[in-house]
Amino acid sequence: MNFNELKPKISDLVSNSSSLDTTLKDICELLKSSITYYDWVGFYFKNGEKEELKIGPYAGATTDHEIIPFGKGICGQVAVSNENFVVPDVNSQDNYIGCSLNVKSEIVIPLFVNNINIGQIDIDSNTIDPFTQEDERFLEFVCESVASIM
Ligand code: SME
Repeated sequence: MNFNELKPKISDLVSNSSSLDTTLKDICELLKSSITYYDWVGFYFKNGEKEELKIGPYAGATTDHEIIPFGKGICGQVAVSNENFVVPDVNSQDNYIGCSLNVKSEIVIPLFVNNINIGQIDIDSNTIDPFTQEDERFLEFVCESVASIM
């Protein structure tokens, strides 16, 4: 399924949402099952007043990284930079938290509510260098859609 086909499905999930966590989980499952190179899809959110991220709903293998301090790893860097982070090859990153040896690349897009970075969507891929600007634009759309129900 391509991004243009996925967008209305995301919009439907968001507009029919009755539980935030269920909707986020449904979005993760939809993305993981629809895009061949999305092998782990999850959300992280700022953990209350703490300078750390806490894992939210996700689809894919269980991860040990339920808490990520701000500044650590790709996710923690996006928490402070407020910018998209596309990693074509995770082995070229010093500040990276590895989950599985299968993971080759990663993309993290911040999620803003009222212009405040409150979390992010994180995608791991077992393919090297699969992400394009189309992924970035699509995942920005996903984050904006989610922000509308937060
Ligand atoms: N690789 C991430 C850690 C989270 S896992 O991908 C689920 C990072 O470097 O922040």
